Amino acid sequence: MNELTPEQTELLAAAAAARERAYCPYSRFAVGAAVRTASGALFYGCNIENAAYPATICAERVAVFNAYAAGERTIVALAVIADTPEPVSPCGGCRQVIFELAPRAVVLLANLHGAWRMTTIEELLPAGFTFARLEEP
Ligand code: THU
Repeated sequence: MNELTPEQTELLAAAAAARERAYCPYSRFAVGAAVRTASGALFYGCNIENAAYPATICAERVAVFNAYAAGERTIVALAVIADTPEPVSPCGGCRQVIFELAPRAVVLLANLHGAWRMTTIEELLPAGFTFARLEEP
């Protein structure tokens, strides 16, 4: 696919708008995310940092958790954007969360310069850990 659909463009714009609301005084690295659920609703996320650094939360997780907190369970698309040379690459923790909470989402990675990459969580996290593994002897 060489072009974004109007819905994907809208989702990316939502992620870019969310990025403007990042709270990142320590890293100064602002990230925005947005998800679309099966109902068509959009949910936003930005990274929110803390002076106790590990308490920071990434943009992707905020977006996914916002959708879940609203009672949504089917995320069909997720976009994430940052000011990076290449489309931003989600951290390992966010990949694990997407693997469980948004397994079928189309994942759109982008930067502020117009570059983007369409992918899936299967590609980003092959053979990820699932609940089924907890039940194995
Ligand atoms: N960050 C995200 O929000 N998403 C990612 O995928 C990578 C990292 C945030 C966390 C922290 O606030 C800042 O970027 C620097 O790591």
